[in-house]
Amino acid sequence: MNEFFTYLIEALIFVFPAYVANATPVAAVKIIGRSTPLDKGLYAWDNRRILGDGKTIEGLISGTVVGTLVGIILYILTDVFRSFLEPLILSVGAMVGDILGSFMKRRIGLERGKPLPIIDQLGFILSSLFFSFMIYGIPEWARLDIFITLLIITFFLHLATNYIAFLLHLKNKPY
Ligand code: CTP
Ligand code: MG
Repeated sequence: MNEFFTYLIEALIFVFPAYVANATPVAAVKIIGRSTPLDKGLYAWDNRRILGDGKTIEGLISGTVVGTLVGIILYILTDVFRSFLEPLILSVGAMVGDILGSFMKRRIGLERGKPLPIIDQLGFILSSLFFSFMIYGIPEWARLDIFITLLIITFFLHLATNYIAFLLHLKNKPY
């Protein structure tokens, strides 16, 4: 196996906690059957919700916890992470990116659930990687070609998993 694929597999393992953190809330709020908006229903200066009903405390906690736990298992099984705390950093980073994305969407006037291409698919991963690179430095796999390939894979994987969640009636929008 050549170096490109070795690094790409490392990259995919590395971002897996962020993927899990991002996907968990959709199922978790359904299972818990309760959702408390992070912004407590409050409005910003522009008379639009700060974040909207799509960002909840239950989603934030479940995403962080499940992403971190899955990441710690991967930390034990592989040597991709620099610290056992890195999966937590990656998961929190993913949640923060997703929340910032909703904040931006509300500020430009998009209602909860309306699509904002690129930000919807890549915001969480860019934020997750930013947090870990700032704290632990740039990992060996993160060459430009690998990074770009990772973003392309993430983009399509996000679209595909959201469509599957829609088919499973977990989401009412296919994106
Ligand atoms: N979710 C949550 N809490 C979070 C993130 C997500 O409860 N912190 C749940 C919500 O039920 C949300 C669903 O996961 O509807 C899908 O997430 P996402 O697509 O990010 O939210 P949207 O509803 O599309 O809202 P937005 O327009 O703000 O992105
Ligand atoms: Mg959405």
